[in-house]
Amino acid sequence: MPALLELDRVTAGYGKVEVLHELSVAVPAGSVVALLGSNGAGKTTTLRAIAGLLPLWRGRIRLEGERLDGRSAFEVASRGVVMIPEGRGIFPGLSVRDNLAVSAHASHRQRSEREERLERCLETFPRLGERIDQRAGTLSGGEQQMLALSRALLTDPKVLLLDEISMGLAPTIVEQLFEHVDGLRRLGVTIVLVEQYLTYALRLADICYLLAKGRVTFAGEPDELVDSEVLTSSYLGVG
Ligand SMILES: Nc1ncnc2c1ncn2[C@@H]1O[C@H](COP(=O)(O)OP(=O)(O)OP(=O)(O)O)[C@@H](O)[C@H]1O
Ligand SMILES: [Mg+2]
Repeated sequence: MPALLELDRVTAGYGKVEVLHELSVAVPAGSVVALLGSNGAGKTTTLRAIAGLLPLWRGRIRLEGERLDGRSAFEVASRGVVMIPEGRGIFPGLSVRDNLAVSAHASHRQRSEREERLERCLETFPRLGERIDQRAGTLSGGEQQMLALSRALLTDPKVLLLDEISMGLAPTIVEQLFEHVDGLRRLGVTIVLVEQYLTYALRLADICYLLAKGRVTFAGEPDELVDSEVLTSSYLGVG
């Protein structure tokens, strides 16, 4: 089966510095693919390249067989590839309601359908419903991530790119957040997940890619990765 999203020997970088070196990643439809690796390995850069935020130097990115690279971030998003950046991507000055309304509006749906989706979203994240008129910037870290996930969900994504949504959160909150991510997967959303908390990432992922210095050093199922030595050496920075 061809991958829904495919990175084919992607090379890219910043200025003159090459960061990703012929990186190939295949993301099957409906799967959760984890990108793992130590700080600076190129995980965020990979997501940025997919999202159209960083031009490729060489290689191709395809969505459903069609070229995705060379398109603007806006075009990539409107084709259903939506990124939740490390900084969360919410409007801190707006209320929860208005944050959700902005995303729902961007989906160009009929009003009735927008309202129905919003309602479903609040059923998935009841904590947001309880805080609907609160300013988003005053939500707790975990609640802000739930809001970021809901906003992404309202745009009806094909592929969600999640960059360390657990950052700075307590383990119990991370646990809840990952249950929500698992819920999104059950809804059929394909997910590319960058994560430092290995346990959660490995539990959720169907396939993982280990990156070291902008190269893939392992690709396979989580069990295989746990059994292999490459994990320790990579996280110790040896790989
Ligand atoms: N805007 C930028 N300009 C120049 N170099 C950058 C820029 N962003 C990232 N880099 C460099 O690219 C390399 C990969 O960075 P990237 O942010 O992709 O790593 P990462 O795997 O996401 O790390 P972390 O786990 O710390 O988030 C690093 O060496 C970093 O210094
Ligand atoms: Mg990063």
